[in-house]
Amino acid sequence: MTRHSDYWDRLYRDEGRPGWDMDAATPLVRELLDLAQPFGLRQGCDLVVPGCGYGHDAAELEARGFVVTGLDFAPLAILGAMHRYGGRVTWSQADWFTTHLGPWDAIFDHTCFVAMDPARRPDYVGACAEHLRTGGLWMAALFHDVKGRPGPPHALPMTEMRHLVEARFEVLHLAEATESHPRRAGREYLMMARTRV
Ligand SMILES: C[S@@+](CC[C@H](N)C(=O)[O-])C[C@H]1O[C@@H](n2cnc3c(N)ncnc32)[C@H](O)[C@@H]1O
Repeated sequence: MTRHSDYWDRLYRDEGRPGWDMDAATPLVRELLDLAQPFGLRQGCDLVVPGCGYGHDAAELEARGFVVTGLDFAPLAILGAMHRYGGRVTWSQADWFTTHLGPWDAIFDHTCFVAMDPARRPDYVGACAEHLRTGGLWMAALFHDVKGRPGPPHALPMTEMRHLVEARFEVLHLAEATESHPRRAGREYLMMARTRV
Protein backbone atom coordinates (compact mmCIF):
# COMPACT_ATOMS: atom_id res chain seq x y z
CA MET A 1 0.00 0.00 0.00
CA THR A 2 1.71 3.13 -1.25
CA ARG A 3 -0.04 5.32 1.32
CA HIS A 4 2.08 3.79 4.12
CA SER A 5 5.68 4.77 4.73
CA ASP A 6 6.57 1.08 5.30
CA TYR A 7 5.93 0.38 1.61
CA TRP A 8 8.51 2.97 0.54
CA ASP A 9 10.95 2.25 3.34
CA ARG A 10 11.04 -1.41 2.29
CA LEU A 11 11.99 -0.37 -1.27
CA TYR A 12 14.82 1.81 0.06
CA ARG A 13 15.98 -1.04 2.31
CA ASP A 14 15.72 -3.83 -0.29
CA GLU A 15 16.94 -1.96 -3.34
CA GLY A 16 19.37 0.56 -1.88
CA ARG A 17 18.98 2.72 -4.96
CA PRO A 18 15.38 2.22 -6.13
CA GLY A 19 14.59 2.44 -9.85
CA TRP A 20 13.34 6.03 -9.72
CA ASP A 21 16.53 7.37 -8.12
CA MET A 22 18.75 9.04 -10.73
CA ASP A 23 21.61 9.74 -8.32
CA ALA A 24 21.36 13.39 -9.31
CA ALA A 25 18.80 16.19 -9.50
CA THR A 26 16.39 16.11 -12.40
CA PRO A 27 17.38 18.44 -15.28
CA LEU A 28 13.84 19.78 -14.89
CA VAL A 29 14.97 21.82 -11.87
CA ARG A 30 16.32 24.44 -14.26
CA GLU A 31 13.31 24.36 -16.55
CA LEU A 32 10.82 24.70 -13.69
CA LEU A 33 12.79 27.52 -12.03
CA ASP A 34 12.92 29.42 -15.34
CA LEU A 35 9.15 29.05 -15.61
CA ALA A 36 8.60 30.21 -12.02
CA GLN A 37 10.76 33.34 -12.18
CA PRO A 38 8.19 35.53 -14.00
CA PHE A 39 5.71 34.57 -11.28
CA GLY A 40 7.90 35.97 -8.51
CA LEU A 41 10.05 33.06 -7.39
CA ARG A 42 13.40 34.51 -6.28
CA GLN A 43 16.53 33.25 -4.55
CA GLY A 44 15.90 33.30 -0.82
CA CYS A 45 12.32 32.08 -1.13
CA ASP A 46 11.58 28.99 0.92
CA LEU A 47 10.70 25.81 -0.95
CA VAL A 48 9.60 22.36 0.09
CA VAL A 49 10.31 19.19 -1.86
CA PRO A 50 7.64 16.62 -0.87
CA GLY A 51 8.66 12.99 -1.33
CA CYS A 52 12.27 14.15 -1.59
CA GLY A 53 13.76 10.64 -1.50
CA TYR A 54 17.55 10.86 -1.27
CA GLY A 55 17.37 14.63 -1.59
CA HIS A 56 19.05 15.32 -4.94
CA ASP A 57 16.50 17.93 -6.09
CA ALA A 58 16.37 19.56 -2.66
CA ALA A 59 20.17 19.92 -2.56
CA GLU A 60 20.24 21.33 -6.11
CA LEU A 61 17.61 23.92 -5.18
CA GLU A 62 19.61 24.90 -2.09
CA ALA A 63 22.72 25.29 -4.25
CA ARG A 64 20.70 27.66 -6.46
CA GLY A 65 20.01 29.97 -3.53
CA PHE A 66 16.72 28.80 -2.06
CA VAL A 67 15.92 27.94 1.54
CA VAL A 68 14.87 24.33 1.23
CA THR A 69 13.02 21.71 3.24
CA GLY A 70 13.24 18.15 1.94
CA LEU A 71 10.28 16.19 3.25
CA ASP A 72 9.63 12.46 3.10
CA PHE A 73 7.76 10.06 5.34
CA ALA A 74 10.14 7.13 4.73
CA PRO A 75 12.84 7.13 7.43
CA LEU A 76 15.44 5.56 5.10
CA ALA A 77 14.88 8.27 2.49
CA ILE A 78 15.58 10.99 5.03
CA LEU A 79 18.61 9.12 6.42
CA GLY A 80 19.94 8.71 2.87
CA ALA A 81 19.41 12.40 2.13
CA MET A 82 21.19 13.45 5.33
CA HIS A 83 24.05 11.09 4.55
CA ARG A 84 24.45 12.51 1.03
CA TYR A 85 23.87 16.22 1.63
CA GLY A 86 24.17 16.87 5.39
CA GLY A 87 22.65 19.97 6.91
CA ARG A 88 22.54 22.21 3.82
CA VAL A 89 18.84 21.42 3.62
CA THR A 90 16.31 21.05 6.44
CA TRP A 91 15.25 17.39 6.32
CA SER A 92 11.83 16.57 7.65
CA GLN A 93 10.39 13.10 8.17
CA ALA A 94 6.68 13.82 7.82
CA ASP A 95 3.58 12.76 5.94
CA TRP A 96 2.52 15.30 3.27
CA PHE A 97 -1.09 14.81 4.35
CA THR A 98 -0.31 16.07 7.87
CA THR A 99 -1.97 19.36 8.73
CA HIS A 100 0.02 22.41 9.85
CA LEU A 101 3.13 21.89 7.73
CA GLY A 102 4.87 24.97 6.36
CA PRO A 103 3.77 27.39 5.11
CA TRP A 104 6.23 27.72 2.23
CA ASP A 105 6.55 30.06 -0.74
CA ALA A 106 6.67 27.19 -3.22
CA ILE A 107 6.51 23.44 -3.69
CA PHE A 108 8.91 21.59 -5.98
CA ASP A 109 7.17 18.33 -6.80
CA HIS A 110 9.10 15.72 -8.74
CA THR A 111 7.80 12.12 -8.64
CA CYS A 112 5.71 12.64 -5.50
CA PHE A 113 2.27 13.52 -6.87
CA VAL A 114 2.59 10.79 -9.51
CA ALA A 115 3.51 8.28 -6.79
CA MET A 116 0.19 8.78 -5.00
CA ASP A 117 -2.67 6.34 -5.07
CA PRO A 118 -4.94 8.07 -7.66
CA ALA A 119 -7.81 8.09 -5.13
CA ARG A 120 -5.76 10.47 -2.98
CA ARG A 121 -5.18 13.08 -5.68
CA PRO A 122 -7.89 15.54 -4.60
CA ASP A 123 -6.62 15.43 -1.00
CA TYR A 124 -3.05 15.88 -2.22
CA VAL A 125 -4.07 19.00 -4.12
CA GLY A 126 -5.75 20.27 -0.93
CA ALA A 127 -2.59 19.56 1.09
CA CYS A 128 -0.50 21.55 -1.40
CA ALA A 129 -2.85 24.52 -1.09
CA GLU A 130 -2.79 24.32 2.73
CA HIS A 131 1.01 24.13 2.95
CA LEU A 132 1.61 27.23 0.81
CA ARG A 133 1.48 30.91 1.68
CA THR A 134 -1.19 32.94 -0.10
CA GLY A 135 -0.09 33.28 -3.72
CA GLY A 136 2.39 30.41 -3.31
CA LEU A 137 3.53 28.35 -6.30
CA TRP A 138 3.26 24.62 -6.91
CA MET A 139 5.73 23.41 -9.53
CA ALA A 140 5.41 19.83 -10.64
CA ALA A 141 6.84 17.34 -13.12
CA LEU A 142 4.35 14.63 -14.05
CA PHE A 143 4.06 11.65 -16.37
CA HIS A 144 1.47 11.31 -19.12
CA ASP A 145 3.08 8.01 -20.15
CA VAL A 146 4.48 5.26 -17.91
CA LYS A 147 5.01 2.76 -20.75
CA GLY A 148 2.00 0.72 -19.64
CA ARG A 149 3.65 -0.33 -16.37
CA PRO A 150 1.47 -0.66 -13.27
CA GLY A 151 2.07 2.30 -10.94
CA PRO A 152 3.54 3.92 -9.05
CA PRO A 153 4.30 6.15 -10.84
CA HIS A 154 0.83 6.65 -12.27
CA ALA A 155 0.25 8.39 -15.58
CA LEU A 156 -2.10 11.35 -15.59
CA PRO A 157 -3.35 13.16 -18.71
CA MET A 158 -2.82 16.93 -18.69
CA THR A 159 -6.55 17.61 -18.97
CA GLU A 160 -7.25 15.59 -15.84
CA MET A 161 -4.43 17.34 -13.99
CA ARG A 162 -5.84 20.74 -14.89
CA HIS A 163 -9.26 19.72 -13.65
CA LEU A 164 -7.86 18.47 -10.31
CA VAL A 165 -5.63 21.47 -9.69
CA GLU A 166 -8.20 24.11 -10.59
CA ALA A 167 -10.20 23.18 -7.49
CA ARG A 168 -7.68 25.15 -5.39
CA PHE A 169 -5.20 26.78 -7.79
CA GLU A 170 -4.92 28.99 -10.82
CA VAL A 171 -2.99 27.03 -13.47
CA LEU A 172 -0.19 29.21 -14.90
CA HIS A 173 1.57 26.67 -17.10
CA LEU A 174 0.79 23.18 -18.35
CA ALA A 175 2.92 21.82 -21.19
CA GLU A 176 5.36 19.13 -22.28
CA ALA A 177 8.74 19.15 -20.54
CA THR A 178 11.64 19.86 -22.87
CA GLU A 179 14.64 19.07 -20.62
CA SER A 180 13.73 15.63 -19.29
CA HIS A 181 16.35 13.07 -18.34
CA PRO A 182 16.92 10.90 -21.47
CA ARG A 183 15.29 7.92 -19.71
CA ARG A 184 12.07 9.93 -19.42
CA ALA A 185 12.15 12.00 -22.60
CA GLY A 186 8.77 12.48 -24.26
CA ARG A 187 6.84 11.17 -21.26
CA GLU A 188 6.89 14.13 -18.83
CA TYR A 189 5.03 17.42 -18.63
CA LEU A 190 5.32 20.41 -16.33
CA MET A 191 2.67 22.16 -14.30
CA MET A 192 2.89 25.49 -12.50
CA ALA A 193 0.02 26.77 -10.41
CA ARG A 194 -0.64 29.54 -7.88
CA THR A 195 -2.95 29.35 -4.89
CA ARG A 196 -6.15 31.25 -5.39
CA VAL A 197 -6.24 34.45 -3.35
C1 LIG B 1 8.97 7.61 -6.39
S1 LIG B 1 9.74 8.19 -4.93
C2 LIG B 1 10.55 9.67 -5.53
C3 LIG B 1 11.68 10.17 -4.65
C4 LIG B 1 12.40 11.40 -5.17
N1 LIG B 1 11.48 12.49 -5.46
C5 LIG B 1 13.20 11.07 -6.40
O1 LIG B 1 12.80 11.46 -7.52
O2 LIG B 1 14.24 10.39 -6.27
C6 LIG B 1 8.36 8.85 -4.03
C7 LIG B 1 8.76 9.32 -2.64
O3 LIG B 1 7.60 9.91 -2.04
C8 LIG B 1 7.57 9.53 -0.67
N2 LIG B 1 6.16 9.65 -0.25
C9 LIG B 1 5.11 8.96 -0.71
N3 LIG B 1 3.98 9.34 -0.07
C10 LIG B 1 4.34 10.29 0.83
C11 LIG B 1 3.64 11.05 1.79
N4 LIG B 1 2.32 10.88 1.97
N5 LIG B 1 4.33 11.94 2.53
C12 LIG B 1 5.67 12.09 2.37
N6 LIG B 1 6.40 11.38 1.49
C13 LIG B 1 5.75 10.49 0.72
C14 LIG B 1 8.14 8.12 -0.65
O4 LIG B 1 8.62 7.75 0.60
C15 LIG B 1 9.23 8.21 -1.71
O5 LIG B 1 10.47 8.58 -1.14
